[in-house]
Amino acid sequence: MKNLIDKLQKQRALSKEEFVLLLGNITEEASEYLFDIARATAQKYFGNRIYVRGLIEFTNYCKNDCYYCGIRRSNHKVERYRLSREDILACCSQGYKLGFRTFVLQGGEDLKYTDDDICGIIADIKKNYPDCAVTLSIGEKSYESYLKYHEAGADRYLLRHETASPQHYARLHPKGLSALERQQCLYNLKQIGYQVGAGFMVGSPYQTVEDIAEDLLFLKRLEPHMVGIGPFIPHKETPFADFPAGSLELTLFLIGIIRLMLPNALIPATTALGTIHPKGREMGILAGANVVMPNLSPVNVRKKYELYDNKICTGEEAAECKMCLQNRINSIGYQIVVDRGDFCPVEINV
Ligand code: 5AD
Ligand code: FES
Repeated sequence: MKNLIDKLQKQRALSKEEFVLLLGNITEEASEYLFDIARATAQKYFGNRIYVRGLIEFTNYCKNDCYYCGIRRSNHKVERYRLSREDILACCSQGYKLGFRTFVLQGGEDLKYTDDDICGIIADIKKNYPDCAVTLSIGEKSYESYLKYHEAGADRYLLRHETASPQHYARLHPKGLSALERQQCLYNLKQIGYQVGAGFMVGSPYQTVEDIAEDLLFLKRLEPHMVGIGPFIPHKETPFADFPAGSLELTLFLIGIIRLMLPNALIPATTALGTIHPKGREMGILAGANVVMPNLSPVNVRKKYELYDNKICTGEEAAECKMCLQNRINSIGYQIVVDRGDFCPVEINV
């Protein structure tokens, strides 16, 4: 397996068969070998610097009904909420004081916000905080809508592809949602000029090693600036309530692989990773991740944005989350930076 990892490092890619072989033979030894190289690769571009993005979960209304997601339309047990423009700006103000220079506006696919509403919110944030990046994560929209948001000042867009395989996609989503349409959205976003984030869940129901190999090949084709991956975690009020959570080891291994495939990519150590293991996010950074996304949402709505059971950080204040993450990151020899944390095309000398 070391040969395959060396080959991946040199060529930044493997064939589908090689990925399948590698993923089917994960050992502790292979993982340690991979993580050492992945960490060194991240350090070539980022040193010991970890970027932070303040996550504002501004609506949990969603018109979609994805089988895995806790805020799916059919879950009548969640109390729905929307944040107003003023609420969102208050989150940014608090985040700015805490040193955040990227705000991620994330929500379900909520048609109540028109394109003009979204553009107005983006423009307000950019006016008040011209030194900050605005990231959107609000699902599948038309090319024209994406263009409008970009013209209003949005810099980045997160849209996980969820799974690259059309067959697997169809087992995770109701009819009407398709893998190819989702992938087209990502190509549209890239063409418009966003820094784009894709990604997928590890261990989602029915996922095979071949599916994961397809995910990796898709990421290679798309070449996103960011890649968010986290373990699938069941939510009790969804059709997937009884499926097991994805594995920590496999998620970490994939972070390492993606770091070697896309050496300067922005890779978050996700909240889901921190949920399945108390040190999950630290382990993610030690496997090659370089971004954390603390929650900036108002405390009174956090529990309502539960995509999966037992999500962490839902009882903390923004300042507590920031301090908690800072301590965790310092404890493994890394540092949080106050910076927009843009995609960086060249190696730095540190
Ligand atoms: N477990 C883990 N991740 C999930 N997401 C949605 N539901 C779950 C779940 N049950 C992820 C999806 C989505 C992102 C916002 O959260 O990948 O794109
Ligand atoms: Fe909201 Fe899937 S349930 S995007």
